Amino acid sequence: MPDKVDMEKIVSLCKRRGFVFPSSEIYGGLGSCWDYGPMGVELKRNIKDAWWKAIVQERDDVVGIDTSIMMHPGVWAASGHVDSFADSMVECKSCHLRWKAEEVTNQKCPKCSGELTEPRMFNLMFKTFMGPVEEEASTVYLRPETAQGMFVNFENVVTTSRKRLPLGIAQIGKSFRNEITTGNFIFRTREFEHMELEYFVKPGTDESWFDFWVKERFEWYIKLGIRQENLRLRQHSKEELAHYAKDCYDIEYLFPMGWSELEGIANRADYDLTQHAKYSGKDLSYYDGESSERYVPYVIEPSAGVDRSFLAFLIDAYDEEEVEGERRAVLHFHPLLAPIKVAVLPLSRNEKLTPLAKEVYKQLCPSFMTYYDDSQSIGRRYRRQDEIGTPFCVTIDFESLEDNQVTIRERDSLAQIRVPITELEQTLQAKFKGEPFEKTPLWATRQK
Ligand code: GAP
Repeated sequence: MPDKVDMEKIVSLCKRRGFVFPSSEIYGGLGSCWDYGPMGVELKRNIKDAWWKAIVQERDDVVGIDTSIMMHPGVWAASGHVDSFADSMVECKSCHLRWKAEEVTNQKCPKCSGELTEPRMFNLMFKTFMGPVEEEASTVYLRPETAQGMFVNFENVVTTSRKRLPLGIAQIGKSFRNEITTGNFIFRTREFEHMELEYFVKPGTDESWFDFWVKERFEWYIKLGIRQENLRLRQHSKEELAHYAKDCYDIEYLFPMGWSELEGIANRADYDLTQHAKYSGKDLSYYDGESSERYVPYVIEPSAGVDRSFLAFLIDAYDEEEVEGERRAVLHFHPLLAPIKVAVLPLSRNEKLTPLAKEVYKQLCPSFMTYYDDSQSIGRRYRRQDEIGTPFCVTIDFESLEDNQVTIRERDSLAQIRVPITELEQTLQAKFKGEPFEKTPLWATRQK
């Protein structure tokens, strides 16, 4: 891996290989908005699926939910977002660029050194109007987090899921923040996706559950291939804690611009349910049948960004190597995250090879996200698959017509094995499940 991955290289690879495009590009783009292309949408879906599997599918104490983006305005008054979800902002009197006050060190505009205005508070929620009349009474907000959808549905979920505490409610969905400064590609954008878990527990057990989730979430990134040396935990200082938090850790990743937040895990205590009970007038306490007590549950919240995880997985997977005297760029994605799992590559576009290659492609499609490519030289096609992180390439050559065997090439070790077509699918399934290849692939060694 190069010493430091250059963000420019990642942005350029994303554009070239169809991971991420600037939004509305033919109109010149729109600040900090991005579109996910054919490869990006697969990677994003795989990240979300991996999160959902670990958080919901593999646990009997967590259920999912999908709540609306626009909610009753009372929700945001109760949550504290109307009063407190704001950044201190300064504006340059010359170029009119706006900056977070905390980002400016010498009271001069970082772009043109112009004089800055006094700081003023700027609320980060996007406002719009519901219905045809644009008036204060019809103001609604685009949610800045998915979390409140879980708090206001706490009672609905407890009643319908017939589960007891500890109980988690999980959600993946879009959030919107009118960030003052964006940048660093998809690291901080105004529209992004959240993966949030609100884990409701009995007060007094919150600290041990908090420790559990901090550890669990840290390990999730490592299991999916991020190198431990590029991850660290940072506890928030008292001054830094959000208005709702009793304790908070950030999982930080070593991005090209330095250590930055990847995910936050907060102990929100009983702040949210208490506030919603107060503002809605509904009792949101919980009757614990085991201890015959009634209490307001505490909440542990692991909150991750899909787009930021996408960026971290991409950067960590990126590598440049010398292979047979040629430079190759490769993404060493964990196979679960790789956008394309298998590429079917006939040795050349030849009328004798095509029917068999197409047959192999059709055979694999139902089980794996498969890509068929017969253009250009086989070497160039391998490089293209390496650059999008495809774990396995299956090559059909002239011998395949005789012996009904094909070659599987593993992306990281470059090892090759030959297998009968009748055993191809089960062999690939076994390799994805971790059966050793001829040489151990890098993604498998990273997981250890
Ligand atoms: N409900 C708690 C909450 O939203 P947060 O620390 O503001 O906490 C959690 O956000 C995660 O969401 C962050 O660690 C980051 O991954 C992602 N995130 C937050 N703001 C973002 C933005 N403007 N662009 C992209 N991702 C963002």
